[in-house]
Amino acid sequence: MSEELITQRDGRVERVAPYLTEDQIQERVRALGAELTRDYAGQDVVAVAVLKGSILFFTDLIRQTELPGLTCDFLGLSSYGSRTESSGVVRLTQDLSQHVEGRHVLIVEDIVDTGLTMQYLLDNLATRKPASVQICTLLHKPSGTRVEVPMKYVGFTIENHFVVGYGLDYDERYRQLPYIGIMSFEDPGD
Ligand code: IMP
Ligand code: MG
Repeated sequence: MSEELITQRDGRVERVAPYLTEDQIQERVRALGAELTRDYAGQDVVAVAVLKGSILFFTDLIRQTELPGLTCDFLGLSSYGSRTESSGVVRLTQDLSQHVEGRHVLIVEDIVDTGLTMQYLLDNLATRKPASVQICTLLHKPSGTRVEVPMKYVGFTIENHFVVGYGLDYDERYRQLPYIGIMSFEDPGD
């Protein structure tokens, strides 16, 4: 596993401490892929990547499925708020390119924290009359829950940390890391 990553930016020190290794993530993604293969066998499923955080998870996950009826689509959501806390005010910034009426929708998300983003998306998708909608999230932070959303597939349940890597960002950085790390900050003089 990699060492702690230390970066100086905007007069502060940003630290990323290794948390979930690339191997741990890939092993879990394989298991989730196998589960999806069993659950969606023979079905018309639209796998929806929630941009941008889920991109690495999404591309690894779909490669671990064997579902000839699978199609991919992308959707952008943004939640206003500070850089490490979500406000719960969610907006659709990019819509799907496919119709989902009568089809099985699998939402692929990076992390569910308050649940407000997924609640918004579930409500939005329900109006389009899909055959079913399920959530597959890589991470779940139960300590942040403000609204309970049904998550059928969860990669890892984690403590209340702000995490980056494997698609997850802080201020658009660190998405490219193949592992997940815990982010912390130090002000000069700390
Ligand atoms: P929720 O609406 O509070 O459930 O948060 C959903 C979104 O906030 C996620 O899709 C992420 O984009 C972002 N988010 C929440 N926690 C973290 C984190 O620890 N690191 C990076 N992004 C996060
Ligand atoms: Mg997200």
